[in-house]
Amino acid sequence: MEKLIYFDNAATTFPKPEEVYRKVDHILRNVGGNPGRSGHRMALSANRVVLDARDSVARLFNIEDSSRVVFTSNTTEALNIGIKGFLKPGDHAVTSSMEHSAVTRPLKVLERINVRHTKVKCSPEGVLEPEDIKRAIRPDTKLIVITHASNVTGTINPVREIGEIAREKGIKLLVDAAQTGGMLPIDVEKDNIDMLACAGHKGLFGLQGTGFLYIAPDIQLEPIKEGGTGGNPEMDVMPNNLPERLEAGTMNTPGIGGLGEGVEFILREGVEKIRRHEVALTDRLIKGLLDIKQVIVYGPKDANKQMAVVSFNLKGKDPSDVSFVLDSSFGIMARVGLHCAPDAHRTIGTFPQGTVRLSSGYFNTAEEVDFVVSAVKRISSL
Ligand code: ALA
Repeated sequence: MEKLIYFDNAATTFPKPEEVYRKVDHILRNVGGNPGRSGHRMALSANRVVLDARDSVARLFNIEDSSRVVFTSNTTEALNIGIKGFLKPGDHAVTSSMEHSAVTRPLKVLERINVRHTKVKCSPEGVLEPEDIKRAIRPDTKLIVITHASNVTGTINPVREIGEIAREKGIKLLVDAAQTGGMLPIDVEKDNIDMLACAGHKGLFGLQGTGFLYIAPDIQLEPIKEGGTGGNPEMDVMPNNLPERLEAGTMNTPGIGGLGEGVEFILREGVEKIRRHEVALTDRLIKGLLDIKQVIVYGPKDANKQMAVVSFNLKGKDPSDVSFVLDSSFGIMARVGLHCAPDAHRTIGTFPQGTVRLSSGYFNTAEEVDFVVSAVKRISSL
């Protein structure tokens, strides 16, 4: 079989640690019933799977009370719950010009109920200045919602500093950690994070269709979805207690179990070790690409200031053609286009054609980076 080189880890990490495959297989074969529903022993095992995963997530992000971790189907759902469940008519939110549609679209739709927002402009490298956030705050501002790192340029935002501003002003901070969870140290206490939205299928090494939202104890969100919760079946509205209030319907037990196992893998390896490997690969990739005359690299171009996400274009070539040849001739998987973040591309000057995005992961090697660079060099000369 042709060897494929996977550089689309910013979309979904691949492969997963062996333990994750084993755990999901085990759950699918042995754990029946619905967590929190029936009282038979298999349903109780399903409940245990979910509780354990909640505890693992809480440990990784220094969350004191794991019942404040709500499982979702992805970061998008987590952000929708955080944004729509928190903001009320008359409220104002501050965000940035580097956000994913999972932030911009919920904010846009809330304009219909008189929730306003301000998009703070970032630099062409995607850098967000905390002072600009401060300036955008108004008396009616209730929420700051920002990405921890851009999914287009990898640019890392100074979340802790922005959190300090939020605390000072009595505003809540919702962080989109889709590109950083499991790959960069995050501590909800030290980083002043009130709500943390994260994917299960990226840096946490879980399955697609999983994610979570952490909600600080002083926040009560309105559910955006109603349904069965197992507990409190006599109530005709959603119960007040978490996580049930925000987890209507049967949960994805195998997916959540896989997510929990992915988090356990990270806890064993250590986030710092994962980060060091990704910085080394990203540094090699950026330097290799910058050595090619026709390449334009976007973002900070500094592995320490970004995640393992590198966007580039080849002068005079359509990014879709470049990505097609990377796959068809070299077996390299890259993502192309606007990456569901059109504002980010407007900010870095690549709208509407977009970029080719190479995102390495913990299981990529320096040799693979060299192969990718040599492939881009070959394409540049075609
Ligand atoms: N938001 C994910 C990405 O950037 C899917 O690829």
